[in-house]
Amino acid sequence: MASSANRLALVAFAAIAASLGAFFYFFYLWPQPKGPEQPIPFSHNVHSGIKQIQCQYCHPYVAYSNFPGMPPVEKCLHCHNYIIANHPWIRKEHDYARQGVSTPWVKVNVIAEHVFFNHQRHVNREVACEECHGEVQASQRLPQKLWRMGECITCHQQRNAALDCWLTCHN
Ligand code: HEC
Ligand code: HEC
Ligand code: HEC
Ligand code: HEC
Repeated sequence: MASSANRLALVAFAAIAASLGAFFYFFYLWPQPKGPEQPIPFSHNVHSGIKQIQCQYCHPYVAYSNFPGMPPVEKCLHCHNYIIANHPWIRKEHDYARQGVSTPWVKVNVIAEHVFFNHQRHVNREVACEECHGEVQASQRLPQKLWRMGECITCHQQRNAALDCWLTCHN
């Protein structure tokens, strides 16, 4: 009797230990999902985190227009004509500039076409970039994000923002 109870306890203990182990493995060690590969492996962590360049320096219209704006090649070269100018990735940037084409960045935030989303409204109400985009300044490569209506609604409920906005922004 006693020994079979012991064995049962042992099995239960082993099962608990295994599931705890699995939990920590998946929680901490499972690689974070990465976003799409970009034409140049641009790192927000280097530019915004370490070098502390303001978001608005590169996305200047975020508070004034519906479109935050993407930095044109010339803006990169403003610094990179001098900083690591011969780095192969920067030379690729020079090639784009010579050809007069903009860098074909792959869009990572995707929102349904019929939804009208407006940055300026949010930014001027002091909704921080990271509330919607996460810790951009800590990432080497931005993850893909498909926006769902639930996320808009949850925050609008918490902030007492317009909920009937679906009448105005679905068109
Ligand atoms: C205000 C100045 C500034 C601007 C603007 C700027 N960079 Fe940088 N960039 C830096 C500095 C500083 C470094 C770090 C250089 C070093 O490690 O010595 C850097 C590093 C890099 C690297 C090296 C890779 C890495 O991760 O360390 C790449 C690639 C790069 N930048 C691409 C770009 C692109 C593309 C743009 C335009 C969208 C851009 N940079 C705009 C200052 C700038
Ligand atoms: C030196 C220029 C530079 C700075 C500073 C910068 N960004 Fe960017 N940002 C870029 C470039 C280039 C891309 C396109 C490549 C990519 O997605 O990584 C981009 C892409 C993004 C995107 C994804 C756009 C999409 O495809 O949907 C977001 C969101 C973003 N930046 C937010 C921020 C925030 C928030 C900050 C400040 C913490 C910031 N950026 C600072 C240059 C910059
Ligand atoms: C209330 C949530 C919210 C906040 C706050 C917010 N964004 Fe966004 N952002 C979005 C959504 C949703 C999209 C995708 C829709 C779109 O591309 O218009 C997006 C897209 C972007 C893009 C890509 C635009 C493009 O043309 O591809 C950039 C760059 C960006 N955000 C930068 C910023 C910066 C910088 C801040 C802070 C100053 C910021 N965002 C604050 C929700 C937000
Ligand atoms: C992190 C919080 C947050 C998220 C996420 C968010 N919003 Fe908002 N939104 C706000 C706040 C706060 C306001 C109030 C601004 C004001 O009162 O002027 C607002 C205002 C708006 C307005 C203007 C409403 C009016 O009164 O005319 C629209 C439209 C809107 N949001 C659409 C969206 C959409 C679409 C999404 C999802 C893609 C979204 N929001 C996600 C916080 C958020």
